[in-house]
Formats: sequence, C-alpha cells, structure tokens
Amino acid sequence: MLSITKGQVIQTALPQPPKPGLSAEAFAPSNIALCKYWGKRNAELNLPVNASLSISLGDLGSRTQIQPADEDQVWLNGERLAPESSFSRKVISFIDLFRRGLQQPVRVDTQNTIPTSAGLASSASGFAALMLVLNNFYQLNLSTQQLSAFARMGSGSASRSLFNGFVEWHKGHRDDGMDSFAEPLSQTWPGFCIGLLKLCTTEKKVDSRAGMQRTLESAPLYQAWPTQAAQDLQTLKQAICRRDFTRLGETAEQNALSMHATMIASWPPLLYWQPESVAAMQRVWALRAQGTEIYLTMDAGPNLKLLFQEADRGAVMSVFPELQAVDIVAPFD
Ligand code: PMV
Repeated sequence: MLSITKGQVIQTALPQPPKPGLSAEAFAPSNIALCKYWGKRNAELNLPVNASLSISLGDLGSRTQIQPADEDQVWLNGERLAPESSFSRKVISFIDLFRRGLQQPVRVDTQNTIPTSAGLASSASGFAALMLVLNNFYQLNLSTQQLSAFARMGSGSASRSLFNGFVEWHKGHRDDGMDSFAEPLSQTWPGFCIGLLKLCTTEKKVDSRAGMQRTLESAPLYQAWPTQAAQDLQTLKQAICRRDFTRLGETAEQNALSMHATMIASWPPLLYWQPESVAAMQRVWALRAQGTEIYLTMDAGPNLKLLFQEADRGAVMSVFPELQAVDIVAPFD
C-alpha cells in the first residue's frame, strides 16, 4: 500500500493557500526522552512504533525568525549556510510543505541556545520552533495538536518540543498520523534535575533515522521493544504522579539501555558508545552504590544525560564537575 505523503496530509488539513505576514519569531525547548521513541511504523510521516515520554529543557532550545527575502536563505547561529547543506535542505523542504507553490522566498534564522558543549541534538527544538514561526508567518491558526503532528513530520522528537515540563507523545493509529501528537502532562516536580555530560565531539556516522531503520530490519531483540516501551511509559507516568524518583530513574535508565541493546543487536552492529561513555556509566553506578540517587539516560550518541534531585546536586557535581546542570523552567518552578 502506498503511504500518504506529508504534502497530502498538509493539503488536507489546510485547503486554503497560505497568507504570508511580515515576519515571525518563536522559541521551542529541547527535550530528553525518559521513555524513548525508537522505530518508525511509517518513515515518510515519522509515525512511531511506540509512544514516548520526555522532559523539556526550559530555556535551552532553538529561537527561530522568518521574514521575506530576495532568495531563500538559511542561517544557523549567525552563519549563512550553503543551500546544498543538509540542514538548509531540510529546512527549505519543510517550509515548502506550507508555502505550497507560493513564489515568496524567505530568510530563516535559527539560534540554538543549547551550548554546543552540551552534546545535545537540536533537531527536536529546531523543527518545533520552525513549525511555530510558520504557523504565525503564514497565519495558519493551527491547534496545538496539529502543530505537534506537523512538527513530527520534520523530526519525530520535535512533536514533544512544543511544550514545557513532562510531555507524552501518543503513537496514534491513523494512516495520516493526525492522532500521533504530543501533549504535556499536568504534573510538576520541583527539584527535578537534569545534567548534560558531553563526552565526545566526534560526529556520529549513523543518524537516528538510519539507526532506527537498521534496528527494525535486523535486530531480533527489537521484537521485545514495543511491549517494554508501553510498560515503561505507564510506570513512568505513575512515578511522576507519585513523585517516586527511584522508580522514575530506574525505569528511564533501563529503558535507555534496552533501546541501546536493540541497536547493539542489529547487523551491522550499531554502538553509539565510546570508551568515555562506558567509563561515565561506571561513575554513575559507583556514585549510586554509595547512596546518591542518580540515574542515566542516553540517546543516539555517546553522551550521557543524568537524572538527579536538587538535594543531591552537590554530591553529583563533585563527581561530575564538568556537568552542565539544566534549570528546568515552568511548569517546574
Ligand atoms: O526525532 P529523531 O529522529 O531525532 O529521533 C530521536 C530518537 C532518540 O533521541 C534516540 C529518542 C527520543 O525519543 O528522543
């Protein structure tokens, strides 16, 4: 069966031609998944095999502006990118989905407030911020569900970057994906801390899209993943309701390592870890063995994200002085 294209989904949702304004600006936070999205049931629309749950990083994210220009231009952190660069092509083809033949070139400027030293991918916040500016610039008046579903077509995890705090991305069942969007949870958790531990600067050779595809096609272990992810999601939601940090940390760490187990069991094997990653995991486990409640999570890269509580910040920072601790803003204040 032929899959519906992104263009068809947008055409159906937005039958009227876009009405460009003068300019627009928006911000979206980066996010870290506690229950990971790993595997697409539809690669064109970025529809996930499993639902996922994340926490947003407050004021660490992407700020994007758009305005009319003489020709299409994509700027990143103050530098104009070559039109054939992969970032530039992704941004322009996403804009084309909404511009739909309208002959109006634009200049898009994105500033990432995530320090490059943090080792975080910026595609989630980047596509979420781009979706928000396009909504304003073309006066699309989209609902938050539509904004999240459309941001998802740019990058799956971008669906979660429209919101602050804890966010759940529903996997949905429809072929057009319009029920696959994210929503914030109502619960807050003052004192919940995330630390970013950047260990390696080497560019990864296999991006998450290719990594997911390889895992799905070649890892027998992947069969167990959808059931585990569904259970982990429920456990995490319960732990958030009860503010049970032990349960949350154990579940998030096991979820991340299970995702990596499916990658390692792919063929050819896919291992994002570097020796520094393993050494840092062992430091986390040693600190935990001494009684500090600290847990780790990792995405498709060698860096670690640490989960701990405000009361343990001093103990954590003494073992990881290089850690960048994130201040989670609303609704955690
Ligand atoms: O949204 P993508 O295509 O960059 O995929 C993100 C995949 C993970 O970061 C590994 C997990 C997640 O849920 O964010």
